[in-house]
Parts: sequence; structure tokens; C-alpha cells
Amino acid sequence: MTIKIEQLSKKYLIHNKRKVLDDTLKDRLTQGVKGFFNRFRAGSLKTSGKKEFWALKDLSFEVKQGDSLAIIGKNGAGKSTLLKIFSRITPPTKGRVKISGRVASLLEVGTGFHPELTGRENIYLNGALLGMSKREIKKNFDEIVDFSEIEMFLDTPVKRYSSGMFVRLGFAVAAHLNPDILIIDEALAVGDAAYKKKCIAKMEDIGKEGRTVIFVTHDMWALNFCNKGILLHEGEIVPTDNLEHCVALYSGSNREMPSVDKV
Ligand SMILES: Nc1ncnc2c1ncn2[C@@H]1O[C@H](COP(=O)(O)OP(=O)(O)OP(=O)(O)O)[C@@H](O)[C@H]1O
Ligand SMILES: [Mg+2]
Repeated sequence: MTIKIEQLSKKYLIHNKRKVLDDTLKDRLTQGVKGFFNRFRAGSLKTSGKKEFWALKDLSFEVKQGDSLAIIGKNGAGKSTLLKIFSRITPPTKGRVKISGRVASLLEVGTGFHPELTGRENIYLNGALLGMSKREIKKNFDEIVDFSEIEMFLDTPVKRYSSGMFVRLGFAVAAHLNPDILIIDEALAVGDAAYKKKCIAKMEDIGKEGRTVIFVTHDMWALNFCNKGILLHEGEIVPTDNLEHCVALYSGSNREMPSVDKV
């Protein structure tokens, strides 16, 4: 067992301020700038409240060592939230999470990178965060740089990187620091097609080495290397027999997703 979650739920508090701001924007457009400021003065923001929202509801499953797990589901299904819990970026509201092993993740463009530091410095920073010694990082450094193909920009602060360059470095770092568990959210989507293919081939290799890979994507062709699948729908797991079944349900889901209770 590498990851085990039991009755895991995640609640977010949604601020209703958003609606008030939308209204004020509408006012600005229809009544001009004066109306916009008056509305603020009238204290409309005070009327905003908080609403509870369960992004993940009572999930239980296990990921075994060496599994390559695909997590799929529509926008807002809870995929990234689950990955953030695995990466300890956010805590669960309820339930238990057990993780054994070192986790490296690429979640959103730029996370885990310090904008003012150069690519080179960020590689060392990320290695250190994973608990590696300077020597260990040095050993993998050239491979990281080769894979990312951004050698020319290695000494440029990463805040000057394009989003594609960010992803190149982010993936290269996560994949080459020998984590026990590699977690990749579809951030790869901003890389170009050739790089995306290269990343998928690398994930497949990592899986073959017996490491655990967890991968979220909307591209069904990219999941071929996975051996397990989880389909999320509105924060719940849709029961499925295997990865093919997951993909089939998801691919048909643009029209109708079977209710979690029905399946
Ligand atoms: N920090 C937050 N505060 C409030 N709500 C949040 C927060 N993060 C996520 N959510 C909500 O939780 C739900 C699940 O979001 P999540 O990002 O996990 O979806 P997803 O499956 O990754 O979607 P996508 O395919 O679009 O990436 C969404 O409704 C989202 O609005
Ligand atoms: Mg997401």
C-alpha cells in the first residue's frame, strides 16, 4: 500500500462576495462609474456570506505501490483537490489519508517554484524540499536539464519563463528526483504536443520502475500507460470495473453521467 484514504471529504467555504462584485460590475456598466461607487458606499459587500461546499465526499480507496492511476472526471469534479490533499497542500476536512513514500508533484503551473530564483536554483530548492542532499540533486541535475530542454534559460529567474517553460522544468524536476510517488495534474496541457508525449513516455518508464504514478488528464489517449482508473463525479467516486470502464463512462458523460447511486 502506498496511499490509502478512508472516508475522505473536503469542504470549502464559498464566499458569496463574488455575486455582489458581479452585480457591482453590471451596475458600473449600466449606471456608470457613479453608481458603482455608490453601491460600495451603501455597504453591499457586508451582505456577503459564506456557503459550505463539499468538493470531495466520503472517498475511500487504496493505491498500491507500482500502480499507475488515472483520475478522470469533468471540470470541478474534485480531481485537483484530491491531488492537493495527496501532496499535503491542503488538509482533508474529514477522514484519513495514509501515504508512505516521498511524493513529488506537478499540480499547477508555477507551484513549487520561487519566482525570483533562477531555474538552476529552483531545481536545488525542489530537491531540498523533497529531502534530497545536494549531492543527490547534483547527480540528477544534468538529466533534469536535458529533459526540460531549457538549458539556455537555466540562469534566468523563473518569473521570466513562459508557462510552457515552467511546465517543462516542473515536470523534469518532479520526474527526475526519484520520488516514490509522482503526482501530475494536467498542467502538461500548456506544454507543446511533442513535450507532452515525452512526459507521458517518462511517466510510463517511472511506472515500469515500480514507482507509483497518479495522473489527472482530460485527454483519454494520454492514459494508455495507466493500469487503474478512478472516475470522479461531483466529488464522488463513480463505481467502475476497470480503467476501460472509467474511460467509457467518462467519454459518454458529456451527455449524461450515470448517478453514483444508480451504478
Ligand atoms: N480553494 C477553494 N475554495 C473554494 N472552492 C474551491 C477551492 N478549490 C476548489 N474549489 C471547488 O471545488 C470543486 C472541485 O475543484 P477541483 O479544482 O478539484 O476540480 P477539478 O476536478 O480539478 O476540475 P478541472 O477539471 O477543471 O481541473 C470546484 O467546484 C471548485 O470550485
Ligand atoms: Mg483540476
